[in-house]
Formats: sequence, structure tokens, C-alpha cells
Amino acid sequence: MNSCLEAEHSPIFVNGPIIVGAGPSGLSVAACLSNRGVPSVILERTDCLASLWQKRTYDRLKLHLPKHFCELPLMKFPKNFPRYPSKQQFISYIESYAARFNIEPVFNQTVEKAEFDVVSGLWKVKTQDGVYTSKWLVVATGENAEPVVPDIPGLKNFTGPIVHTSAYKCGSEYANRKVLVVGCGNSGMEVCLDLCRYNALPHMVVRNPVHVLPRDFFGLSSFGIAMTLLKWFPLKLVDNLLMLLANSYLGNTDRLGLRRPKTGPIELKNVTGKTPVLDVGAISLIQSGQIRVTQAVKELTKKGAKFVDGQEMGFESIILATGYKSNVPDWLKVLKSYTNRYSS
Ligand SMILES: Cc1cc2nc3c(=O)[nH]c(=O)nc-3n(C[C@H](O)[C@H](O)[C@H](O)COP(=O)(O)OP(=O)(O)OC[C@H]3O[C@@H](n4cnc5c(N)ncnc54)[C@H](O)[C@@H]3O)c2cc1C
Ligand SMILES: *[C@@H]1O[C@H](CO)[C@@H](O)[C@H](O)[C@H]1NC(C)=O
Ligand SMILES: *[C@@H]1O[C@H](CO)[C@@H](O)[C@H](O)[C@H]1NC(C)=O
Ligand SMILES: *[C@@H]1O[C@H](CO)[C@@H](O)[C@H](O)[C@H]1NC(C)=O
Repeated sequence: MNSCLEAEHSPIFVNGPIIVGAGPSGLSVAACLSNRGVPSVILERTDCLASLWQKRTYDRLKLHLPKHFCELPLMKFPKNFPRYPSKQQFISYIESYAARFNIEPVFNQTVEKAEFDVVSGLWKVKTQDGVYTSKWLVVATGENAEPVVPDIPGLKNFTGPIVHTSAYKCGSEYANRKVLVVGCGNSGMEVCLDLCRYNALPHMVVRNPVHVLPRDFFGLSSFGIAMTLLKWFPLKLVDNLLMLLANSYLGNTDRLGLRRPKTGPIELKNVTGKTPVLDVGAISLIQSGQIRVTQAVKELTKKGAKFVDGQEMGFESIILATGYKSNVPDWLKVLKSYTNRYSS
């Protein structure tokens, strides 16, 4: 069946780069190329632009970083945007961006395989519908392509609903429910905050050390402060300063069950890719007891969880705030000498 299809449709030759993914990165590349008069084709698996933002984020989401750090090249955000634009504002900006540069991705095309053919000097990029070829391939599928679902013992035994944060929209259906939120990154913290606003009872699992910084210090963003200081001072010094400011602003988060890693927040991001949490209110709800912090889960049962400290608790729902991963290693076939870099 498949080989039949390929025989019928000869490869589509793209005069210019093939870009995989119509998120902010892919669109930026297409716009910059177009600005230099270079055509390109974007292949996108979903049926919309910036699908992570449109389909897989919660209603209340705002940009975590101040707007000037999130702007795409060649087009400013509208003047009336607040410092932290909402998800809807960001999406409308993305849509005007694509319109401005006449970018029309080919939708519903999931790239299943891409390999470089040394003989013809062309990339062959296979989707479920056919093959595209080009001299150049740009990978823009992001770090959030696939939800990570951890292998928690007993996960299948739990009888209530289990959703990943990529499918969480808002807390309205969780009112008065005991909810176990697994994970304490930005998504886990913000989902807990949202659940509280709908009178749910979130319990957040904190397994590993985590850096929490206030999103803003007296009207300045932590991220902005860090970026400015890094221009002048060594990384270790900036990290120490950030932790000093964070501790004076949020208090000792260790006492709340949120241990700080030994490595500073920016160094840790650089070395492991782990993003510090930028707090927008969850910490004060942990302090007031509305969000409970729990130990790691030992196993899930039909109606709840057993924790590593021996406690057992009932829950009605579970939300997995366990992050995302790239899908590039599954489809990009690269020369042997490059595989280590891509598969790690
Ligand atoms: C809750 C949340 C909040 C965030 N907040 C911020 C923020 O405030 N500021 C910030 O800078 N970043 C933020 N991020 C990070 C986010 O990764 C970036 O905002 C941005 O979306 C990255 O753009 P991208 O184009 O690299 O990837 P994505 O936006 O993930 O786009 C990748 C595209 O590739 C498509 N794709 C994936 N695999 C394939 C395939 N095999 N074939 C074809 N198409 C494929 C996807 O459908 C998607 O449309 C946030 C992320 C999350 C989850
Ligand atoms: C993509 O697929 C969806 C669902 O199958 C369909 O509704 C939509 O019309 C398709 N869009 C394009 C541009 O092919
Ligand atoms: C899940 O349920 C099965 C059948 O009831 C049981 O044998 C198994 O031990 C349970 N798993 C865990 C990790 O509790
Ligand atoms: C990030 O780490 C790399 C090596 O892992 C190092 O060369 C680089 O200087 C680091 N960047 C910063 C800002 O510390």
C-alpha cells in the first residue's frame, strides 16, 4: 500500500529549504528567508500555526518571559500588549506574522523520516502522504513535541482520570476534588495555582530539587535582571545573586519541601536544560497550605497513591506535569558521526 503510493506520487522538489514545524521557530526561519527572497516550504503535522500554543496549553497561560524576549524577528509585538502577553494575544501575533510574510505551511503533514541522500545531494523528507526533497532541511519541531508520561508503578491501576498538562485546559471540572499533580516545574506550579482558583485541592509531588525565582522583583523581571547582569559579571556570581534575591523575596523554600539544587539556576539551565520555575503565585499558596507538597510517589493504587515516606492518600484525579521531549531522534536519520549529539 505504502510503496504503491510512493510509486504513484513522485517526490515533490522544493526550491529552497524544507522547514519541519510551523511553531514560532519555523515561522521565524521562513520569514527571514522570505525577507531575503528565498522561498521555503513548511511541513506541519497539525492543521494550525503554533499548535503547541493553540491546542496544548491551558486557558490561563501567559508568556513566562517579558514580551521583548519572546518577539520574533522582523516584526514587533503590538504596542498595546502587556509585559506578559496572554496566550490568545501571542497566538494572534503569530497569525499576523504568518500573514505579513505570506507564510502558508502545508498542514496535516507529519514528518516520519528524513535522510540525506549523498548521491543526489538532497534531503528526502517523508510524510504520511508523500516525499519532499530539497538541498536544505531545517528542523523546527521544538522541545515540546511529545508529552513525557513517566513509568509510575500502578499507573494503570488508578481508576480516576489521568491527564497530561498538554491536555489540561482549566480547573472548572476539578472543583472540590483531591488532585495529585505529578511534577513541580512551571506547568505543575501553574496548574496547581489554577486548580486552587477553582476550589480544587491540589497535592503537588516534588521529587527532585528545584529552583524557584519570583517572576518579578519590585517591577523588574528576574529573567531581564539575569540577562543584564550576565553582560557584566561571571555566571556563578549572577547565580548567587539571583538565589540571594529569591530567598529574600520568597523566604526559605526548603522549609516548604522545595529544596534548591546545589548548582545555580542559570548554570543548571545551561548544563541540564532544566528551566527554573518563575513563580506567579503558587509559592504563597504553598505557604498558606492550599497547595500541599508531597514526597515522591512509590506507587499508584485504584483510588490514590502511596508515597516513599510510607503515607497513603486518596485522590480523584491525577495530572501529569511531567514535561515534554523532542521527537527528532525518531525521524531524523543522520550520519553516524552525528548520532550521539542528536540522540542524547
Ligand atoms: C506551558 C508553556 C509555556 C511556555 N512559555 C514560554 C514563554 O513564555 N516564552 C518562551 O519563549 N517560551 C515559552 N515556552 C516554550 C515554547 O517551547 C516556545 O514558546 C515555543 O513554542 C517554541 O517554538 P518552536 O517553534 O521551537 O516549537 P513549537 O512551538 O513546539 O512548534 C513545533 C511545531 O512542530 C510541529 N511538529 C512536531 N513534530 C513534527 C513532525 N514530526 N512533523 C511535522 N511537524 C511536527 C508541532 O506540531 C509544532 O507545531 C512555553 C512552553 C510551554 C509548554
Ligand atoms: C487537516 O485534517 C483535518 C482533520 O482530519 C481536516 O479537518 C482539515 O480540513 C485538514 N486540513 C488541511 C489543510 O488539509
Ligand atoms: C495493579 O493491580 C494488579 C491487579 O490488581 C496487581 O497485581 C498489581 O500488584 C498492582 N500494581 C501495583 C504497582 O500496585
Ligand atoms: C554553557 O556550557 C558550555 C559548556 O557546557 C560552556 O562552554 C558555556 O560557556 C556555558 N555558558 C554559560 C553562559 O555559562
